[in-house]
Order: sequence, then structure tokens, then C-alpha cells
Amino acid sequence: MSLKVNNLGFCYRPESWVFRNVSIEVPKGGRIGIYGNSGCGKTTLAKILASFISPKEGEVVVDGENQKREGFQPVQLIFQHPEKTMNPLWRMKDSLCESYVPEKSLLDAFGIRDEWMERYPIELSGGELQRFSIVRALHPETKYIIADEMTTMLDAITQASIWKGLLEIVKERNLGLIVISHEMAIIDKICDSCLNLEDYCHA
Ligand SMILES: Nc1ncnc2c1ncn2[C@@H]1O[C@H](COP(=O)(O)OP(=O)(O)OP(=O)(O)O)[C@@H](O)[C@H]1O
Ligand SMILES: [Mg+2]
Repeated sequence: MSLKVNNLGFCYRPESWVFRNVSIEVPKGGRIGIYGNSGCGKTTLAKILASFISPKEGEVVVDGENQKREGFQPVQLIFQHPEKTMNPLWRMKDSLCESYVPEKSLLDAFGIRDEWMERYPIELSGGELQRFSIVRALHPETKYIIADEMTTMLDAITQASIWKGLLEIVKERNLGLIVISHEMAIIDKICDSCLNLEDYCHA
């Protein structure tokens, strides 16, 4: 069981490759870090893995099956900017429960308070919103999590508390994890191996 990427290549404009020949394998329960300069394609790669966009070359194989475009995605992406992923017109409880209803213990693990449920995204801080987007990604059928600069905008104490919550669940459910970060310290601490995406850039 693994999330496997074979010779992946992507360009937004014909022949203007962001990266090419990227091959990665994240075993079930494994943790891989991806780093590289701003603009080298980390978020683009994350979006391909989570099936938001299709690769131009290569393939993504999830637990032995070619990635499906419809239905539930077992590869879930947590973005750097949670406010961009929440419907501004929905109360938090509706965004939270859109695809499944999380148990109280999961909400407690991320310190999500009852009083936040009735609020709109604009009425929460970045750290509070990010807790919701993490819980949303932790659907019972999720097998792999991609954390794309998940805590970059947060202070050190909030970063540590959010990572602690996520890593406990990743361990408990034996999920595969891809950590995208500029901060090598986070990758070094959490991951088994890492990849510099700049090595695959064709700028
Ligand atoms: N929708 C798009 N249309 C055209 N070009 C795009 C689009 N999205 C991103 N790009 C370009 O693709 C390249 C890779 O962008 P991407 O967001 O994947 O980089 P990144 O490594 O995540 O950067 P950062 O560290 O700043 O988040 C950049 O040169 C960017 O300008
Ligand atoms: Mg990015």
C-alpha cells in the first residue's frame, strides 16, 4: 500500500515545464518532506496528488489503483491559506460537516470550541480556521495527507499544538504524510526522507 508517483510532469503553458520526471513513493504510514524555493512547483505537485489538477505526464497510483477523478479522494490536501478553502457564506459547522460528521474527540484533539461552530470564516483567526480544515481532511477514509505549508502563518506555540494533534492521528490511523515546507527544521523533525523539488525544475 502506497501513494506512488511515476515520472510526473506538469506545465501550465505548453512546453513550459514546472517540473518533470518526479517519482516519489510514500508507503502507508510513511512520512516524506518536499522542499524547494518559492515557485518551484510544490503546491502544483500537491494539487496533482490530491486530484485537483491532472498531470501532463506520468501517473499517480494510490494503493495500487490509478488515481480516480470522481468520488471520495483518499489523498487529502491541507492548504497554507484555510480561508481560501472555506465557503465565506457558510457557518463553520456546515463547512466542517460537508463530507462527514467528525467525532467530538477529533474536535477536542484540535481544540475546536463549540462557540466557533455558529461563526462564519471571517470571524475566526487563521489558526482557528486551520484546525477546521485539518479535521475536514481527516475523513475516516482518508489514507494520505498532504500538508502544504500548513502552519507557516502561525506562531510557534500554535504550530506545535496543531502538529502534535495531526501527528497523533496520523500515527493512530497509520496514514501516509507528505510535508511541504520551507522550514527544513519541521521536515527534519517529522519526516523519514525528503526531496528537493528544485532538482526536477525546468525553469
Ligand atoms: N494557475 C496557474 N497558472 C499559471 N501558472 C501558475 C499557476 N499556478 C502556479 N503557477 C506558476 O507555477 C509555478 C509553480 O507554482 P507553485 O504555486 O506550485 O509553487 P510553490 O513551490 O508552491 O511556491 P511557494 O513556495 O511560493 O508556495 C510558479 O512559477 C507559478 O507562477
Ligand atoms: Mg506553494
